[in-house]
Amino acid sequence: MKVPHTQSEQTTLGHRTASPRRYLMCRPMYFDVTYSINPWMDPDRPTSTDNGLAQWKGLFDTFVELGHDIQLIEPVPGLPDMVFAANGAIVIDGKVLVARFRHDQRKDESAAYLEWFGRGDWSAVQQAEYINEGEGDFLWTGREILAGTGFRSDPRAHDEVREFFGRPVIGLTLVDPRFYHLDTALSVLGDGEIMYNPAAFSPESRAVLAERFPAAILADPADAAVFGLNALSDGHNVVLPRAATGLAAQLRERGYNPIGADLTELLKAGGSVKCCTLELRG
Ligand code: ARG
Repeated sequence: MKVPHTQSEQTTLGHRTASPRRYLMCRPMYFDVTYSINPWMDPDRPTSTDNGLAQWKGLFDTFVELGHDIQLIEPVPGLPDMVFAANGAIVIDGKVLVARFRHDQRKDESAAYLEWFGRGDWSAVQQAEYINEGEGDFLWTGREILAGTGFRSDPRAHDEVREFFGRPVIGLTLVDPRFYHLDTALSVLGDGEIMYNPAAFSPESRAVLAERFPAAILADPADAAVFGLNALSDGHNVVLPRAATGLAAQLRERGYNPIGADLTELLKAGGSVKCCTLELRG
């Protein structure tokens, strides 16, 4: 992975500003595909934990080189999807709403996150009452929270999130099972800019997005299919699946610095860059 520079504080590049972030990640020590809760997961297809670990380490190193602060949560045996830390919670303004998972196979992850956040210095830590898959479905734009539903998070979780964080929430409905979490269909770039896959949303939600984000980058089906939208921006650098070359070109045109990551092993579980990363906002 090619990383252009290291920064320890805000760096302005062209008209884009990168700012150092705090991310929570989980080493995929027990990574495997032993059940199927999304169309990407085929337990009959061989997976390699070593490969998953090596690819995850590549992502970790990229974030470190970009100057981000990475915190780690201990992986738990028997919870192979725990590598997808984005699902563990929503963290905004120092307040933490811990996930409540839809599927039994992931339910026990919540306890690990409650414990991890419980040891930290947060103004509030509590578990969501309604099914809420954390940053998988709730994305902070800096002004509002974009909230997904349709496959995982309960629509009632949208009101709960609005109340808990005291921030505006915009509900969006996902319709394509391949893009079952909001962070597989939409990515926040910064400065009120986003990129998304229109085909993943209901016609009503597509209209909402077009109205609120008229200048958004739109992903074509090929880039969406390699999980190109499961990306993470620090305001200038955008780490995204390496195969999403069309999106990378569009990002470069807009003054972002796309950085390709190879997470194809983890994609066998239906996750990539963003799924592996939970942003901790103080
Ligand atoms: N196998 C996991 C699941 O289906 C993948 C989660 C991906 N995470 C994400 N933030 N989209 O729940």
